[in-house]
Amino acid sequence: MQNIIDDIAAQMALVSDKGKVASYIPQLACVKPDQFAMSIALPNGEVYNAGCAQTLFSIQSVSKVFTLTLALGKLGESIWNRVGREPSGDPFNSIVQLEHEQGKPRNPFINAGAIAIADIIMQGHQPKETLAEILQFVRFVANDDSIAIDEKVARSEYETGDRNASLAHFMASFGHFQNPVDAVLGTYFHHCSIAMNTKQLATAGLYLANNGVNPLTGYPVVSAKRAKRINALMLMCGHYDGSGEFAFRVGLPGKSGVGGGILAIAPGKASIAVWSPGLDTIGNSKLGTLALEMLTQQTGWSVFGD
Ligand code: DON
Repeated sequence: MQNIIDDIAAQMALVSDKGKVASYIPQLACVKPDQFAMSIALPNGEVYNAGCAQTLFSIQSVSKVFTLTLALGKLGESIWNRVGREPSGDPFNSIVQLEHEQGKPRNPFINAGAIAIADIIMQGHQPKETLAEILQFVRFVANDDSIAIDEKVARSEYETGDRNASLAHFMASFGHFQNPVDAVLGTYFHHCSIAMNTKQLATAGLYLANNGVNPLTGYPVVSAKRAKRINALMLMCGHYDGSGEFAFRVGLPGKSGVGGGILAIAPGKASIAVWSPGLDTIGNSKLGTLALEMLTQQTGWSVFGD
């Protein structure tokens, strides 16, 4: 396994077009594009790392996997009254579907869906309390209490968050929100700004690779059925309008973020985190996708077969 990821990291260093770092959140535009990291966590506790696996990056939309898990834990299946579970086929920040579908986002991973999930998790609490809960959950599944929110990124998102504010106000106009729009946006921006390295992120995803049980602690995070369903959503919606291409090339449930991170789950086998800040035109990590494609080719881990 170590040879496989060392080889992938070496090949990534040779790729000349590493994609473009996200610039619509100014703080993310400061990140050096020429970076790559990959970590593979196995249910037996082994973690294999390559590249700069200790470097912290902004997990951005990858955080939506954890907030979805929390929302399901709090409200169970009733969350599906607020968000759908179909691929959107539209960009992550699109507003068009919301009008046709009366303010109900297509899935929990597009921005509108994740903002609705933030509203669900808050349940009348202040953003600070909700954030403490989200952070506690992420630290718990990653087995690492050092994980924190990057306040600079959160402020940067807030200052340039007109599109997300539009999505939130538009949904609220249908009477769907239970908390003040500004408070929900504050929660959303902050959970997107959690900083992690690939080692922490791969470890955090292990419960999804292990039938819902965190193998490091033996603690059941979600039921096996729920882990299977979260994986299904990641496969269908985790890369937005690039989800089909990701399934075609990589063949694993995966969730990307505009910070350049991807969490991919090989059910029963491994939880994998990759990070490279250069993105493709859809907003998914260019080298991250390529590295995962190489990994599944070499391991036969694609859920669709060898
Ligand atoms: O709201 C946003 O636009 C960002 N905080 C998250 C978007 C994102 O990560 C999309 N992923 N590829």
